[in-house]
Amino acid sequence: MTQHLAAPAAHTTETRTDWWRGAVIYQVYPRSFADGNGDGMGDLAGIRGRLPYLRDLGVDAVWLSPFYASPQADAGYDVADYRAIDPMFGTLLDADAVIRDAHELGLRIIVDLVPNHSSDQHDWFRRALAEGPGSPLRERYHFHPGKGADGELPPNDWESIFGGPAWTRVPDGDWYLHLFAPEQPDFNWEHPAVRDEFRSILRFWLDMGVDGFRVDVAHGLVKAAGLPDIGSADQLKLLGNDVMPFFDQDGVHAIYRSWRQVLQEYAGDRILVAEAWTPTVERSAYYVRPDEMHQAFNFQYLGTSWDAAGLRAVIDASLAAMRPVDAPATWVLSNHDVTRHATRLANPPGLGTQLRTAGDRALGLRRARAATLLMLALPGSAYLYQGEELGLPDVTDLPDAVRQDPSFHRADGQDGFRDGCRVPIPWTTEGSSYGFGTGGSWLPQPTGWGELSVQAQTGDPGSTLELYRSALALRRARPGLGAGRAVEWLDAPEGVLAFAREGFVCTVNTTAAAVRLPAPGRVLLVGGDDGVETAEGTVTLPADTTVWWAV
Ligand code: GLC
Repeated sequence: MTQHLAAPAAHTTETRTDWWRGAVIYQVYPRSFADGNGDGMGDLAGIRGRLPYLRDLGVDAVWLSPFYASPQADAGYDVADYRAIDPMFGTLLDADAVIRDAHELGLRIIVDLVPNHSSDQHDWFRRALAEGPGSPLRERYHFHPGKGADGELPPNDWESIFGGPAWTRVPDGDWYLHLFAPEQPDFNWEHPAVRDEFRSILRFWLDMGVDGFRVDVAHGLVKAAGLPDIGSADQLKLLGNDVMPFFDQDGVHAIYRSWRQVLQEYAGDRILVAEAWTPTVERSAYYVRPDEMHQAFNFQYLGTSWDAAGLRAVIDASLAAMRPVDAPATWVLSNHDVTRHATRLANPPGLGTQLRTAGDRALGLRRARAATLLMLALPGSAYLYQGEELGLPDVTDLPDAVRQDPSFHRADGQDGFRDGCRVPIPWTTEGSSYGFGTGGSWLPQPTGWGELSVQAQTGDPGSTLELYRSALALRRARPGLGAGRAVEWLDAPEGVLAFAREGFVCTVNTTAAAVRLPAPGRVLLVGGDDGVETAEGTVTLPADTTVWWAV
């Protein structure tokens, strides 16, 4: 099913100073960041109050996961009204205040756009259901009669990403498609009203002053003509490895070209970022051709284990894939859909990105700190997920009764451990929900969470928070780090990465033993084990440690 597109020649009208090319972008998950009204749920007022923290941390932009009106069947990725704020997060005035304050602090704001599906409570879907088979509104979604003598079988064999069939039958006999939960019906992007509506939604938020959009399931909007069967019993294994009839279809690109034109109507450098789980980084590059989006998440990087050879291969492949389209590479280690990297790296490799085992926490934290310094030394844009700057582990032992991830419930508890990275973050050592808010927290925080809080770590030079602050300050002082398209690999022993950038070298020991090498320069920063020793022109690099050098 592999398709081929010719990469267009790169154009060079945009200058190399575009803010987003080397930006560090911090993901806020609004439910779990800060609770301004004491109801146990994070909100826009809470975010607004913590913007100075983000400015001081040293990030360039903030991406807000969805805060739109939603029944919250999938934590807000089921949108009922794209132009309204859910009352649990605040009002449009609060959103306006967040955008204004952020801009005054020099931070950009990127909002999440969810175009693949709406909520089943969206006005179009409710009316489509009420009007019955043959309603023109049903054409804006994928309503179809079933197969079998009485239409009792779904229209095709597609499975939901969250488990179970991707089709649900409504009482009048029609079936509708939902690649995710049944409460998330997929839009029919062949319908012009859907295309018009989303261009209008883009303008609504651009008029509000946002600096860009993270586009949810950007690879999913267009389905193969005729909705053909996949013919495989184990579809989830195919995901991310092959082009599926519902993912990464070439037709999506025309949509993003038209969105780019909408953004170009606006002043300022506004951006589109693709959440596109494609089989290869080469296919991700199609989303960021010069007339489409600006960035695409690099999930191949996120999925790479702590191993020098594998990391070098994915770094080289990512940089090479982006070069012909003149887009920056991006790097990400954690987000709201995967186990936090401090816990992934605490476990043996090969277990995937959703784990329920805590592993060796000290090892995981050491590697996480080293992995972050590696990421922040690479050319391109880096994404941070709230709480990783505190070295937070995933909460792997949440009782099933409190879990809210719809994929956990649909997969009969065998999968769907995304709640573990969504536990509200600790701001203070003590107090109700460790400073998250005054009214508890929607997911229980583990004992000892306060020791990992912003308050506990601030001013402690050995803390993960101060490591992030130092790294981001050094990156700002050396804009060359985020810029460029290449790294110069230096000779290094097996299991060690060493590369040069302008006036800078990064060395990474991914092995379990200390390694001795020639010292490339003066130590700037250490992430991992602090026991780095330099003597007589050599350095002993401890296990699982990254060092930044000035040369
Ligand atoms: C994206 C989101 C995820 C959500 C899914 C369906 O992958 O990141 O949280 O469940 O889309 O909208």
